[in-house]
Amino acid sequence: MARESWASKLGFMLAAMGSAVGLGNIWRFSYVAGENGGGAFLILYLISVLVIGIPLLLVEVSIGRKAQSDVVGSYEKLAPGKPWYLAGFFGIGASLLILGFYSVVAGWSFYYFWNYLNGFFFNEPQEGYGPAFESFTTTLTQPLIWHGLFMVVTILIVLSGVKKGIELANKIFMPLLAILLIILAGFSLSLDGAAEGMRFLFQPDWSVLSDPTVYISALGQAFFSLSLGVGAMMTYGSYLSSSHKLPGATFGIGIMDTLFAIISGVVIFPAVFAFSIEPDSGPVLVFITLPSIFNQMPFGGYVGILFFLSLSLAAISSSVSLLEVPVSYLMRAASWTRRKAAMVSGLIIFILGIGASLGMGVLAGVTPIGENNIMDSMDYIASNIFLPLGGMTMALFVGWHFTKRTALEAADLSGTGLGSVWYGLVRYIAPILIVIIFLQALGLF
Ligand code: PHE
Repeated sequence: MARESWASKLGFMLAAMGSAVGLGNIWRFSYVAGENGGGAFLILYLISVLVIGIPLLLVEVSIGRKAQSDVVGSYEKLAPGKPWYLAGFFGIGASLLILGFYSVVAGWSFYYFWNYLNGFFFNEPQEGYGPAFESFTTTLTQPLIWHGLFMVVTILIVLSGVKKGIELANKIFMPLLAILLIILAGFSLSLDGAAEGMRFLFQPDWSVLSDPTVYISALGQAFFSLSLGVGAMMTYGSYLSSSHKLPGATFGIGIMDTLFAIISGVVIFPAVFAFSIEPDSGPVLVFITLPSIFNQMPFGGYVGILFFLSLSLAAISSSVSLLEVPVSYLMRAASWTRRKAAMVSGLIIFILGIGASLGMGVLAGVTPIGENNIMDSMDYIASNIFLPLGGMTMALFVGWHFTKRTALEAADLSGTGLGSVWYGLVRYIAPILIVIIFLQALGLF
């Protein structure tokens, strides 16, 4: 059977944007920016996106398009008999790990959407939003049911195929998401006291730069948000033909993703400051802080419906790209049908997620890394270690395994001045910066 492909370049762009824009832009960006002091973090994040992220996005998509294969197959095809393909397995592992906790948080988002839609959360629950969130996430079965439901939706889209599943879903979700977020941002900006939130987000407080963890957090956030380093973008690139040019498309995807992160910041921080809440309340910012804010706002319940609908849509369009990584591998390497590959991989992810979910409750005492519970540890390992390492391997592959000519051809940059700049970034600057940031996070630099 012929390999699947996108129906159009626009379809690819929307799917890739859908992959990039997700819980990472709304939930993760807002709490990581909040914890790292706002404006100065934003600047480090923007530098990471421009100097490392977008060039590596072009690297990743161009490998996939050239090889026309999944993460493992792409390396095998372009470097037969060499150990590069191991990086592909590493990518599959990382995508399972990420989707394992991602789908749990997405399940919470479904639950919140459902409760707003029903009007249950229109008024603060008797015990308060904080304890309500806690009692929901610490029970055994409730969060697992929503996590399972989210995985079912993800599996259904992926098993419907590249065109009829992934591309179609993104064509509907992405424009809707953009409209919803812009409405929410307008609402947030109209609140009294919004200016302070904007100052927090846009006026850098340079003193946070003396904290060594800010740099790795900014880099990890850039990788996570751009879906880089696990092979999701490589797999999406493999469904493109060489008639579609890459540099403009990848630049557009990177810029849109960044815009979505900034717009989410504009939705969240003005509201946080308008209601005098601390911006560094961590991963619960979106699930406890925002509902309390909505509760005090005019029409807040409706804002809650829109917000959690946006969050759920954004999560689905990203999770399908994560599931597609093992699915496209299994379809080729094990000759499985799409249906079987999607169901088996989805089941494995569901099981991984059980650990992350129970880590909020009965397994709360299990802290694999420092004081981080299971979910935060999965996130930390995946985002701050696996993704940058995966991305660095891709950069080294294109920068050192390919000749300069092959690299530029694969990226549609032959004969352009920009080509040499990109090549220099990929061959030297990005790998060196990633190594420095790593050493620095380990306290060695
Ligand atoms: N970029 C997605 C987000 O921001 C998450 C993701 C990471 C998706 C890695 C695919 C690969 O939510």
